[in-house]
Amino acid sequence: MLPHNYKEFQTLEEKVGGERGTYVLFEVEMISKLSSSRPASTLIRPHLSETVNALKMTERKRIAVIGAGPCGLTAAKCCLEEGLDVVVLDKTDNIGGLWCYRDYDKEGIPSVMKSTVINTSKEMSAYSDFPPPAHFPNFMHNTLMFQYFKMYAEKFGVLRHVQLLTEVLQVTKADDYERTGCWKVTTRRLKDGVTNTEEFDGVLIATGHHSSPLMPEFPGLKNFKGHVIHTHSLKKAAGYEDKVVLVVGIGNSAVDAAVEISTVAKQVYLSTRRGAWLFQRVGPDGKPFDAAYTKRSLDALNKLVPFRLSCWFMEQQLNKRFDHAAYGLKPKHRVFSQHPTINDALPNKLLSGTVILREDIKSFTESGVIFKDDEQPIEIDAIVFATGYKIEFPLVGEDIVKVDNNKIQLYKYMFPPHLSYPSLAVVACVQVLGAIFPLQKLKDGGMHCL
Ligand SMILES: Cc1cc2nc3c(=O)[nH]c(=O)nc-3n(C[C@H](O)[C@H](O)[C@H](O)COP(=O)(O)OP(=O)(O)OC[C@H]3O[C@@H](n4cnc5c(N)ncnc54)[C@H](O)[C@@H]3O)c2cc1C
Ligand SMILES: NC(=O)c1ccc[n+]([C@@H]2O[C@H](COP(=O)([O-])OP(=O)(O)OC[C@H]3O[C@@H](n4cnc5c(N)ncnc54)[C@H](OP(=O)(O)O)[C@@H]3O)[C@@H](O)[C@H]2O)c1
Repeated sequence: MLPHNYKEFQTLEEKVGGERGTYVLFEVEMISKLSSSRPASTLIRPHLSETVNALKMTERKRIAVIGAGPCGLTAAKCCLEEGLDVVVLDKTDNIGGLWCYRDYDKEGIPSVMKSTVINTSKEMSAYSDFPPPAHFPNFMHNTLMFQYFKMYAEKFGVLRHVQLLTEVLQVTKADDYERTGCWKVTTRRLKDGVTNTEEFDGVLIATGHHSSPLMPEFPGLKNFKGHVIHTHSLKKAAGYEDKVVLVVGIGNSAVDAAVEISTVAKQVYLSTRRGAWLFQRVGPDGKPFDAAYTKRSLDALNKLVPFRLSCWFMEQQLNKRFDHAAYGLKPKHRVFSQHPTINDALPNKLLSGTVILREDIKSFTESGVIFKDDEQPIEIDAIVFATGYKIEFPLVGEDIVKVDNNKIQLYKYMFPPHLSYPSLAVVACVQVLGAIFPLQKLKDGGMHCL
C-alpha cells in the first residue's frame, strides 16, 4: 500500500525549488498546446512590470487588491515585496475565496462543496516559495487548502493588510486619471453599511470568476415543478435522499455533484452534450497524474511532435483505464482541446448504475425530462445545473473591461489594453491546464522586474 503521502513527492522543494524550477514545470504543464498553434506558455509569461513601472513613479504607491482569495493573496504578497502599500478588500468574513467552505448559499459568494477535494496535486498546485507541509496529502481536502492559503498569508505578512466584510461597490477613474493613472474605489463596510471612497494609485481585481452562475434555458424548464439549483448553491448531498436527480454538464462541478449526490439518491442522470475525456487523480504507478505527466522530457517531446500525436498518446493512456467509447463518454474534441474533467469515482458509479450517462436535453415536462435520443419523458425530482459561470466585472463596467460572449481580451491576460495607464489589472481570469495558484504567483512575480 502506498504511504499517505507518496514518497517521491515528499521532497517538494527539490522539484519546485525556486522560480526557475516552477517556471519550467509550469511551461511543461501548459505545453499541451490547447487548440492554439502558439504554445500556451508563450501567452502567460509574467508581465506586471508595466504596471509596476507606472506605480513606482512616486514613492509608496497605494494599491487596492479586491478579493482575498488565493489569487488576491499572492498579488498582495508580491506588491508588499516591491515596497508598495497594499490594502486587500474582501466582502466576506474570511480569506481563502471559494476555498473557505460556507454552509450557506448566497448569490455572488462561491464556495466549494463540503466534500470537495482539489483535483490538482499539491506538487503542481504549490507556491514555489511556500510548499504545503509534507504531511498534507497529495490531493488536499478543501479544509487543508484553506489552511494552506492561511499559512501562506501569515508567513508573508499579508493578513494584516486584509480588510474583511468590506464590499467594493465601484472602481472609477480618479478625476485626474489622465495625468496620474489613479483610481477611485468605493466600498461599503458590511457591519454598519458605511460607504467610503478612496483614491489608489493602482487596482488589482482579484474577484474570481466563479460567482455568477450560468443558467441555460430549455423548452419547458419554466414549467418543471421539482427542485432546481445551480452547483453554485450545492453544498452537500443532504436533501437528495431517495430522489431521482438530473445533473447537467460534464465539467468538474458536474461530475463531483453527480458522484456526491449518488451516494444518497435513488438515481442520478448525468446529461452531457459533448462527452469528456476523464482524467483520474491516481495516475501511472499510483502517482498523482498531473505530476506524473509533467516532465521536462515530455515537454521536449511535445515540442517536436504534432498536436494530434500528443493527444493520441494521452487518449490511449486514458482509454487504458476505461474505454471512453464503451461508456458513451467519448467526446468529438481531442483531449488537450478542453479543460480536463477529473474524477476517480465516476467510472465506478457508471459501472454500478448509480449514475446513468445521458445525451443532451430536448425539453422538460412538469415532472420530467426528455433527452434528445429518446421520446419518452423520464420522471425526475430535481435538477442540478453544473453549467459553469458568467464572466462579469460589474465593479468597473464595460468601458474598462469588456466581456464579449463570456470572453475578455486582456494584454498578457491581465491588462485592459485600451487604458492610458497600466495601473489596473485583472488577476487570474484564466483557465489553465493544471493548477491556477503557481501560475498566478508567477504572473504577480513579474513585479520584481522593475
Ligand atoms: C468548486 C471549484 C473547485 C475548483 N478547484 C480547483 C482546483 O482543483 N485547482 C485549481 O487550480 N483551481 C480550481 N478551481 C478554480 C478556482 O477559481 C481557483 O481555485 C481559485 O479559487 C481562484 O482564486 P481567486 O482568488 O481568483 O478567486 P476566488 O477564490 O473566487 O476569490 C475571490 C474573492 O474575491 C472576493 N470578492 C468578490 N467580489 C468582491 C467585491 N465586490 N468586493 C470585495 N470582495 C470581493 C470574494 O469574496 C472572494 O473572497 C475551482 C473552482 C471551483 C468553483
Ligand atoms: N474538485 C475540484 O477541484 C473542482 C470541482 C468543481 C469545479 N472545479 C473547477 O471549477 C471551474 C468551473 O467548473 P464547472 O464544472 O463549474 O464549469 P465548466 O468547466 O465551465 O463546465 C460547464 C459544463 O456545463 C456544460 N454546459 C454549459 N451550458 C450548457 C447547456 N446550455 N447545455 C448543456 N450543457 C451545458 C458545458 O458543456 P460544453 O463544454 O458542451 O459547453 C460543461 O460541460 C473549473 O476550473 C473546474 O476545474 C474544480
